[in-house]
Amino acid sequence: MIKAPKIILVGPMGAGKTTIGRLLAQALGKEFYDSDKVIEENAGADIPWIFDKEGEDGFRRRETQVLKTMVQENASDMVLATGGGIVMREENRSILRNDALVVYLYASVAQQLHRTSKSSHRPLLQTGDPKATLKKLFAVRDPLYREVATLIVETDSRHPKHVVNKLVDAI
Ligand code: S3P
Repeated sequence: MIKAPKIILVGPMGAGKTTIGRLLAQALGKEFYDSDKVIEENAGADIPWIFDKEGEDGFRRRETQVLKTMVQENASDMVLATGGGIVMREENRSILRNDALVVYLYASVAQQLHRTSKSSHRPLLQTGDPKATLKKLFAVRDPLYREVATLIVETDSRHPKHVVNKLVDAI
């Protein structure tokens, strides 16, 4: 059993961070937050609008601000699901390494593609070939997820409830 007041889920788009995070929070009796939702609430606008008006840089600034506030200033226990690009900034990786228990939810590119194919709210997948984009992002980010993770759980072949059971046993 690892003492873990703050559990942060990282992984690519389509890994199931939000679904698993909500169930895990319920199972552990912790609050659940989704950094993308907090960013949207703070901005009073959705993510596509933020990317459109402020660019990816503007979104990343907001993301770092939310991570800092939620992890370093919020004292309560929680499970936090993050956006797939949270590991892109060293500043974020430092917070993840030092201030929380980080779970990497692994999904293959084929599963990422399958699970993201029905949604249209991810600006990075709206232009070009989504499979090529997911592949390129994964090549860069997979080592970064591994760098910050305490636990890695494969989600391709597991139902979200099974992933949660595995995590509850491990945490
Ligand atoms: C992003 C992933 C999205 C969201 C934004 C950027 C990324 O979150 O933060 O569209 O860079 O991979 P999900 O991983 O929840 O889809």
